[in-house]
Order: sequence, then C-alpha cells, then structure tokens
Amino acid sequence: MPSKKNISNKSIKLIKYYKLINYNLIYNNQSINRYKNNFNQISGNKAKNLDNLKKMIANIKNCELKKNAKNIVFADGNPEAKIMFIGEGPGANEDQEGIPFVGRAGILLDKMLASINLNRENVYITNVVNYRPPENRKPTGEEINRYLPYLKKHIEIINPKILVLLGNTSMNALIDNEIVISKARGKWIDREFGKCKTSVIITFHPAFLMRQPAQKKMTWIDLKMIRDKKTKLNI
Ligand code: URA
Repeated sequence: MPSKKNISNKSIKLIKYYKLINYNLIYNNQSINRYKNNFNQISGNKAKNLDNLKKMIANIKNCELKKNAKNIVFADGNPEAKIMFIGEGPGANEDQEGIPFVGRAGILLDKMLASINLNRENVYITNVVNYRPPENRKPTGEEINRYLPYLKKHIEIINPKILVLLGNTSMNALIDNEIVISKARGKWIDREFGKCKTSVIITFHPAFLMRQPAQKKMTWIDLKMIRDKKTKLNI
C-alpha cells in the first residue's frame, strides 16, 4: 500500500504534469474551434487579453443581436498574424459554427486570400459585431457603437501591421461614416488604435462581390496592394 505521503506527492506531480501539457486546452469536450487551436501557440499576454475580451463581449447586456443568436462569433485565424481582416457581422453559417466567414462569402474570402498567398494560418479575421443580426440585416448604428470599443481593443491586442476593412460597415465604423467605398477603397490610410499603429486599406466585401462580380477586378488591385505592402514590410 502506498503511504499517504506518496499519494499526495503523486497527485502533486500529476497536477504539475497536467499544467505542463495544458490539459484544459487539449482535452475539452467543446466543439473544435480553429481559433482555439492556435491559442496555445501565442504569447501568454495576448492569449489572456483575447480571452478576457471574449468574456467581456459575452457579458454585454441588453443586446438584441445576442438574444437572437446561437453563438458568439469572435475570430478565426492566427492571433500572431500581421494582417487582420474585419467584416461586418456573422451570417447563419457563422452563427451555427461560431467562426467568422465560413459560408459562401467565406469561401470567396479564402479564394481572395489564396490569390495573394495568404490563408487562415497567416491572417486573423473578425467582424464589427460578434453576434448574427437577425434575417441577415445590417447591424444598426446603435449596435455598431455598442461593439466598437471591443473591436478597437481587439485590433490593439492583435496589433496588425496591415488592417483590411471588408465593405461599408467596417469602413464606416473604423474610418469615416461619410465616405463612399468606391472612392475610399484601394488607398493606404495610417491609423492608430490604442498602441497599435497600422496601415489600413478598404476593399469590397466578398458578399458584395458575389452580387457585383464586375467589381472583382477592382478588388484584385487592392489585393495586389496588400501583397506588395506585405513584401515591403517584410511580413
Ligand atoms: N459576412 C461577414 O461580414 N462576416 C462573416 O463572418 C460572414 C459573412
């Protein structure tokens, strides 16, 4: 029979071992989330800050979006990426899976990324609002303003060198409410979000491109600008 002292030593060793292998992240019974898969590869502070931010968003009170949505849609991709993309808000597929851009617009976004040698391993993706607006309507000004401080914090935590705004909603929320996308797209704008200094570019939203495929040629110009900037910044 092992002595009481031995058992407790064994338990202590086991606890240390579980901590070492990050047991909670490896063995959990929650659905697979690519964002979580990257979590243990990122620096401690960033992981903690993202986790806190997600909790704060989950704690937002009196939000109509949240009452109707199935899941929070926080982010996808690599939190250590130097290029961050911001869409509008989750649709039905995203709401179901809890991951941004997994529906038809997401397939086009993946193709846009692939055209300049990017993928979800080397970019980070989120939305202006983290819960699905019912009937896929646009988020209202009030809803956008409710989520905006969290979005700005999100950008500051990720600290991207290049920030790509997909469509009107993210452009209006983060740059200017008065500008029109046909004039504002395809230009570099220097912006600061807290301690994050970044180069912002606006381009068309993939869902818009599915309705207006003729605009894809303009998007290709923007994508090449992103590719060239990436080379220039050596990222
Ligand atoms: N459109 C968006 O803006 N975001 C998504 O996550 C999906 C579609």
